[in-house]
Amino acid sequence: MKRLYLPQEIIYGQDAIKSACDSIVGYGNSFLIITDETMLKLGLVDKLTQTLEGSWTIFSGVTSEPTDAIVNQVLTLMHGQEQPIEALIALGGGSCIDTAKAASVMYRNGYSTIPALASAKEFKVSPLPVIAIPTTAGTGSEATDVTVITDTQQQIKYMMKDKNFLPKVAIIDPLMTQSSPPSITAATGLDALCHAVESYISRKAHALTQELSLSAVKAIMHHIVTAYQDGDHLAAREEMALAALKAGIAFSNASVTLIHGMSRPIGALFHIPHGFSNAILMHEVLAYSKPAIIQQLAELTQAVYPAFTGTDEEKATYFLQQLEDICQILSIPTYSDFGVTKEQFTASLDKMCEDAFASGSPANNPIVPTKDEMKAIYLRSWK
Ligand SMILES: NC(=O)c1ccc[n+]([C@@H]2O[C@H](COP(=O)([O-])OP(=O)(O)OC[C@H]3O[C@@H](n4cnc5c(N)ncnc54)[C@H](O)[C@@H]3O)[C@@H](O)[C@H]2O)c1
Ligand SMILES: [Zn+2]
Repeated sequence: MKRLYLPQEIIYGQDAIKSACDSIVGYGNSFLIITDETMLKLGLVDKLTQTLEGSWTIFSGVTSEPTDAIVNQVLTLMHGQEQPIEALIALGGGSCIDTAKAASVMYRNGYSTIPALASAKEFKVSPLPVIAIPTTAGTGSEATDVTVITDTQQQIKYMMKDKNFLPKVAIIDPLMTQSSPPSITAATGLDALCHAVESYISRKAHALTQELSLSAVKAIMHHIVTAYQDGDHLAAREEMALAALKAGIAFSNASVTLIHGMSRPIGALFHIPHGFSNAILMHEVLAYSKPAIIQQLAELTQAVYPAFTGTDEEKATYFLQQLEDICQILSIPTYSDFGVTKEQFTASLDKMCEDAFASGSPANNPIVPTKDEMKAIYLRSWK
């Protein structure tokens, strides 16, 4: 039997935020808005508060790739409120949304550390409702049952998956992504592309998730370059925002695979933005997996580039070539662009492999590498 889990309500379209207040107030009168300083400065939080009813407190301390320390700051703020918080509104990229998801479950269930949250078998108390308003077209976190938080002590990026992490409402307003600069548009858009491709080839994929994955791959490969080169191109922004949502629903229900499994340790150890670490690994991981996914890659080529004719093998090769071309146009950086040295990278290989396998994602790949094969993929991704 197959299932698809989704937020209770998805509101989308240009200026969706202006008409979303009716839905938000259904979840309470006292809100905590979880966001970051950039959202405040850009006036994106004002867009929300202009129509919001009730009372609210703003936490703007989220940083990229959020840590246990940030979640603890949110929990302290929540516990210190005179009027109890009734719902969390996350406004920002995946980092803000993930922080809200973790805090909502921890607050209601009394967890105080990320390893404790990650090892919980079940949550006895339902979390505070989370209303997610993404400002990047990337993670799809607004519609996933996943939260990713780094435990600073162990330097492990925990990927935690549970239905309790699903937001109640997702508000996708492409105008919220318009201010995203080219490098963030590239990183987050390629993250969404990896979600779409990985969920399509995943061992856990099923008919409904594959429809969503396929539609997302098509939209992203057709529109990411325009969104990158012309951030004010609203049609491209809208296509990307919806594609990120679809890819999020797809991977939340079908899982990501080897790219994400190998990418998280790089984020935890070297603080490379999630979308870029995925993009750096994408080619080598898919080339390694190719013998087992020729048919799926050929299907993707058929959907995205119907004019291309050839054997399945040729179509699969063409798809990988198109991905490389897109990465080149989007100027994907290398590890050393983030200050990582080859010596540091090589010295971390054992830990990266162990943490990648421990996350469970590599097991969803059509071919599961041995530890030595994974090391070799990491080394080939060093450019
Ligand atoms: N929960 C999930 O399902 C899921 C899925 C994939 C990734 N993630 C996690 O999400 C995090 C990454 O999220 P992200 O890629 O959205 O980036 P992010 O939230 O870390 O944001 C990156 C940067 O972009 C800025 N930014 C965001 N929106 C902007 C806008 N509209 N205009 C200008 N600047 C803007 C932010 O201020 C920040 O500096 C990682 O920790 C990753 O592991 C979660
Ligand atoms: Zn991702």
